[in-house]
Amino acid sequence: MYRTVYISAATNLFSDAQLEALLAVARRNNQRDHISGLLMYHDGSFLQVLEGEREAVEACITRIAANPNHTQFLRLVQGEVPDRLFPAWSMGFARPEDLGDADGLTGLDRVLEELPRLRGLDRQVATLIRSFFATHSDYLARLTV
Ligand SMILES: Cc1cc2nc3c(=O)[nH]c(=O)nc-3n(C[C@H](O)[C@H](O)[C@H](O)COP(=O)(O)O)c2cc1C
Repeated sequence: MYRTVYISAATNLFSDAQLEALLAVARRNNQRDHISGLLMYHDGSFLQVLEGEREAVEACITRIAANPNHTQFLRLVQGEVPDRLFPAWSMGFARPEDLGDADGLTGLDRVLEELPRLRGLDRQVATLIRSFFATHSDYLARLTV
């Protein structure tokens, strides 16, 4: 099992419709390629975790890095790992703007719930996710780990 994490900057701010379209493509391809992961978006910044077989993840990353809708692509983590962090998510999605949603769990709530577990499995990746959340000040109060 292989995992990688990168950050990048949207060339232009993404609308909800653009994010939904991106997620639909990502989830379809990732399901096909047995890739799981998490995409976070806030204020024009992306952080994405991708995990799966090394060849599949690297092929996916090559397509992602070539996408002109974002730039300043920077790989933070890459390497073999014992297990997936997000086995159930072909591409989970979370952003701090979801904070206000009253009904049901948002993607963000789910990631928050997962943080202690993630921290136990891969402290480095958990710290990167936490740091991304922490850039949104409203959010800080809710971080417990
Ligand atoms: C921030 C960001 C994240 C993306 N994540 C994925 C992903 O997880 N999986 C994927 O297949 N494509 C992802 N893409 C889209 C790819 O860049 C590319 O458009 C897509 O893989 C092409 O798929 P297609 O050949 O089926 O049209 C992402 C693009 C961006 C900008």
